[in-house]
Amino acid sequence: MGGKMPERCTGRRVPYFDYPFVFTSCEDDFVDIFREVGRRGAYIAQQELRHFEKQLAEYTGAQYALGVGNATDGLHINLRAAGIGAGDEVIFCSHTMVATAAAIHYAGATPVPVECGADHLMDPTSVRAAITGKTRALMPTQLNGRTCDMDALQAIADDYGLVIIEDAAQALGSKYRGRMAGTFGTAAAISFYPAKTLGCLGDGGAVLANDTEVYEKLVLLRDHGRNERGDVQLWGLNTRLDNLQAAILSYKLTHYEAEVERRRELAALYDQGLRSLPELVLPPSPGSDPDHYDIFQNYEIEAERRDDLRAYLAEHGVGTLIQWGGKAVHQFTDLGFAVELPFTERMFTRCLMLPLNRSLADEDVKYVCDLIGRFYA
Ligand SMILES: Cc1ncc(COP(=O)(O)O)c(C=O)c1O
Repeated sequence: MGGKMPERCTGRRVPYFDYPFVFTSCEDDFVDIFREVGRRGAYIAQQELRHFEKQLAEYTGAQYALGVGNATDGLHINLRAAGIGAGDEVIFCSHTMVATAAAIHYAGATPVPVECGADHLMDPTSVRAAITGKTRALMPTQLNGRTCDMDALQAIADDYGLVIIEDAAQALGSKYRGRMAGTFGTAAAISFYPAKTLGCLGDGGAVLANDTEVYEKLVLLRDHGRNERGDVQLWGLNTRLDNLQAAILSYKLTHYEAEVERRRELAALYDQGLRSLPELVLPPSPGSDPDHYDIFQNYEIEAERRDDLRAYLAEHGVGTLIQWGGKAVHQFTDLGFAVELPFTERMFTRCLMLPLNRSLADEDVKYVCDLIGRFYA
C-alpha cells in the first residue's frame, strides 16, 4: 500500500467464521435428530455412535474408527495404546496446536519440536536431525487440510523403527498419493470441533487405527479401561463421543463430499484473485499437485507487512486469524522448550488465515481479494 489510504469500499462484512451458521444451515434436520435421539434417551454409546464409527472407517479406509471426546484425548490415548510413555521422545512439528504436544506430555513422553517446511508441514530434514536414541514416534500434523510428505516420513520411520501417529485433526478427507490422512500411521486422531470441516455442536473427535491390538487398547482407554463385561483392565479415561454428536456427525458425513468440493472451489477463487501479487505466498491451488488432494480446512497464506494487512482487512469488515494465537508451540517458553526453529519463527511473522468456509459466497472471496489487491497497490 502506498502513502495514500485506498478508498473504503462496500460495507460488506466477512467474519472469519460464522458459528451460528453451523447450526442454522441444518437447523430443521438437527432438530429432528435431537427429537429422535432424545426421545429414546440414547445419550451414551448407542447405535448412532456405532453407526458413525462404521461410516467413518468406510469413508477414510482406516481399519477401525472410534468416537472420542476430542482429538487431544484421541492423540493421547493413541500414544498410550501404541506403548509410548515415560522415557520416550516423540517428534512433532512446532506449527501445530499445543494439543499435539500436550498429548505427548500427558502420555508421559517428551515432545520434541521440529521445523515446518515451505508447505507449513513437518519438515523431514529437520525430523532426521532431531532423532536420538530415545525417539520412539513421529507425530506429524496434517495441517490446514493438507497431508504431509508421508513417503519421506515413512522412510525415516522405517530407518529408525519409529511409530507414526498422525495428528489429522484438520485433515478429514485429505489425501496423499490417493490415500487418506489418518491411514498412514499406527493410529490417528481427527477433531470435530465446530469450526472443523466436519464440525459438531461442541467438542468431539475420533481415532482411526490400523492395527488390531492398538484398536483393542483404544476401546478400553476411552471408557475407563473397562471391557464389555465391565472388568477394568487398565487405567483409562472417560473420553467417549456423545451419542447425539455422533448422530449429527453421521448426518453431516453423508454431505461431506459437497462440503469439501465447496471449500476447494473457494480456495480456487482465492488463488485466481491473489496469485498475481508478489507480496503473498499462497497454498498450492486445488488440483495443482497430483500427489495431494487438499480439503482446505484453512486458507493460510504468507504476507509481507502481515500485521498491517490484517488491520486493513479488519477495518473493512474482514476477519482473519493467525493460527495458535501467533506462536509456534516451542515459542510458548513457559512449557519448558529451549530450542530455536528459525524457519518456523520467521513464518510466524508472516502467516495469516483468510476466511474460508461454507457460509461464504463467491462474492465474499472476491471482496477479500479486491481489498488485498488495493492494499498492495
Ligand atoms: C492440529 C490440531 N491438533 C489437535 C487439535 C485438538 O483438537 P480438539 O479440540 O478436538 O481436542 C486441533 C484443534 O484445533 C488441531 O487443529
